[in-house]
Amino acid sequence: MIRKPININSLTVRNRIVKAPCDTAGAVDGAPDIKMTEHYRQRSRGTGLVIVEHEWILPEGMAHSRQLSMGDDRLIPAYRELTDAVHEEGAAVFAQLSHAGARAKDSGLTPIAPSEETVWPQCHPRAMDEDDIRRIITGFSEAAVRAKTAGFDGVEIHSAHGYLLNQFYSPLTNHREDAYTGNTLEGRTKLHCDIIRAVREAVGESYPVAIRFGACDFMEGGSIIEEIPASVKAFEDAGVDLIDISGGLSGFVIPGRTGAGYFKDLSMAAKSAVSVPVILTGGVTDGEQLEQLLAEGSADLIGIGRALLSDPDWSVKALEAVCT
Ligand SMILES: Cc1cc2nc3c(=O)[nH]c(=O)nc-3n(C[C@H](O)[C@H](O)[C@H](O)COP(=O)(O)O)c2cc1C
Repeated sequence: MIRKPININSLTVRNRIVKAPCDTAGAVDGAPDIKMTEHYRQRSRGTGLVIVEHEWILPEGMAHSRQLSMGDDRLIPAYRELTDAVHEEGAAVFAQLSHAGARAKDSGLTPIAPSEETVWPQCHPRAMDEDDIRRIITGFSEAAVRAKTAGFDGVEIHSAHGYLLNQFYSPLTNHREDAYTGNTLEGRTKLHCDIIRAVREAVGESYPVAIRFGACDFMEGGSIIEEIPASVKAFEDAGVDLIDISGGLSGFVIPGRTGAGYFKDLSMAAKSAVSVPVILTGGVTDGEQLEQLLAEGSADLIGIGRALLSDPDWSVKALEAVCT
């Protein structure tokens, strides 16, 4: 199965290996430089889909000063070099659009979040008002158009690992009482759906749009696995073409969850509810494990993070190791 091409909206990806987005903290004034472009070129060999590390969409959503940005048209030529490099190696490439919300730093601006109260003692955000929400929706859709102009084959909206959209999804960080309330699943997913619809409108019907979904907080009082089917169905109905599963409100490492496909219960819950493809990431270190996860129906594509960071030829070796 590893070699079987798959369609994501109008895009055909040549195989089932996904380079999971991994921050390299190597951006120079928000742009990829030659070194970063080479990093992605190397990891495109043999890979089906490369998802580039998170990029901030608005300055106040910056996670740190060496993060990539998709917040300015001036960055488009540098991204064009990167997307050309990935395409030369035969892989498809997505941008990952992000806003760090309460966890933002280094911009000199006050962080914003669904509510002032968070689970991180060091974070002191301002609660977002209606103008902020409108600005965020526009920020995502404008960044998506920029990514499309720069040659990306699709965009991924980041809603995992405790960043802004994960903060809206989690009852632990969303204490709002308005239409975006943390009291209902509809309220917790409303901003996601507003953004998906705005991005879709901006990039057109056939352009691939994905969501990275932190599908379970693994914290008492947080989001739970049982909520996944209704949430991903809402995202699919709003217009996403791909669900990229992750988990954890403060990061993707969850005590007790180790081994290949350690979020497969989450990805299978997602697969039960949607017809668009689902990516599972976490703990995969060789091609046989990847093949096994596909064969047992855990997901349609498998994301590889740390293994591809440490070995740029991981995908080539995985393809060689699997005979089918
Ligand atoms: C150094 C590093 C940076 C990461 N940066 C991002 C990121 O920018 N966006 C994201 O969604 N996940 C990020 N992740 C999470 C990975 O995409 C992936 O989910 C995680 O590493 C688990 O997969 P693995 O076991 O194959 O490494 C990062 C992980 C690492 C190790």
